[in-house]
Amino acid sequence: MKKLLGKNKILTAVFISGKGTNLKKLIQLSKTKKSPIKIGLIISSDSKAEGLKYSIKYKINKYVIKKNDKNSEIKILKKLEINKISFICLAGYMRILSKKFIKNFKGKIINIHPSLLPKYKGLNTHEKVIKNKEKYTGCTVHYVNDKLDSGKIILQKKIKVFKHDTADSIKKRVLEKEHQIYFKAILKIFNVI
Ligand code: GAR
Repeated sequence: MKKLLGKNKILTAVFISGKGTNLKKLIQLSKTKKSPIKIGLIISSDSKAEGLKYSIKYKINKYVIKKNDKNSEIKILKKLEINKISFICLAGYMRILSKKFIKNFKGKIINIHPSLLPKYKGLNTHEKVIKNKEKYTGCTVHYVNDKLDSGKIILQKKIKVFKHDTADSIKKRVLEKEHQIYFKAILKIFNVI
């Protein structure tokens, strides 16, 4: 993708559902000079998502999807248009986007997933890693296509699984790695590294 630095940062929306620790890290790193992106909108599928506090802290527009709203994607698309968003980062967004929505933003939506894809798509990845006695796990940044957690891989980071590990201890270590690779993957996409 074209190199866009300085004033021409790519306006990006981050979609969340929970704590928003990846969102926080992306906001902080997007403020650095070398960042190709600027976070211009936060979309949350949950009005109680902890991560929404970063909308206030960093003065970033937000849009919260209403429960049971059948037209939520149309409304999201409108918000994206108003905020001139051209790139989307899913960061712990626990809803599945429709094929139509993904087509609209083809090649411009990326996601972070807490496993070494193609292993352990979907939910409860760390529990599955423990159950299957995996020696390694990790996280993956990938493009979003219309199949769950199946788009082209951009970057991965591996960690070792120890005998004493629990799903919670793995979650914690994987999350630390997520914070390291999400922004790196964005730099890679936009040819900054
Ligand atoms: C992260 O571990 C992310 O990989 C995962 O949710 C967590 C969100 O944490 N995403 C998925 O499981 C998506 N299928 P955060 O809200 O603190 O960034």
